[in-house]
Amino acid sequence: MAIRQIRYLGDEVLRVPGEVVSEFDDDLRALVKDMFETMYHAEGIGLAAPQIGLSLRLCVLDVQDDDGSDADRLALVNPEVVRASRETDKSTEGCLSIPGLEEFVTRPATVTIRATDPNGEPIEVEADGMLARALQHELDHLDGVLFIDRVSPLKRRMLLKKWKKSQEEDRG
Ligand code: NI
Repeated sequence: MAIRQIRYLGDEVLRVPGEVVSEFDDDLRALVKDMFETMYHAEGIGLAAPQIGLSLRLCVLDVQDDDGSDADRLALVNPEVVRASRETDKSTEGCLSIPGLEEFVTRPATVTIRATDPNGEPIEVEADGMLARALQHELDHLDGVLFIDRVSPLKRRMLLKKWKKSQEEDRG
């Protein structure tokens, strides 16, 4: 297993839609392990393949349930939203590819996702709350969409300004 390098805002790969995964082999399962390791190392709750430079429709999530069970540890291959509630929910989001930035994002409150697991077995996940939000955020990554694209133009400009400033500070 290995920790992969996370790509940051400005890296073109984050804007490229992922390709459908068609091989469910040991390489895929090893990649999923790396993605979990990378996500935990970065203390994130979700990570999509484009965030480690791979244009693939693949993401991992670990959104802790209230009961602290492992039930929400998910590796989703070729996931799709098959149902989204009309009811929306507004809450803050951040992203491992845009560290330090957070903003309120409005999204459907409940979603149903269909995907396959890394062995090619079908999975269906119905989620609300934090998991619903995290799923939609990660699926956006597979289409080259970031949470900053889902806020008002004014908020987006403010976020980009803040990001630019933080990058300049990092460089010294
Ligand atoms: Ni993200």
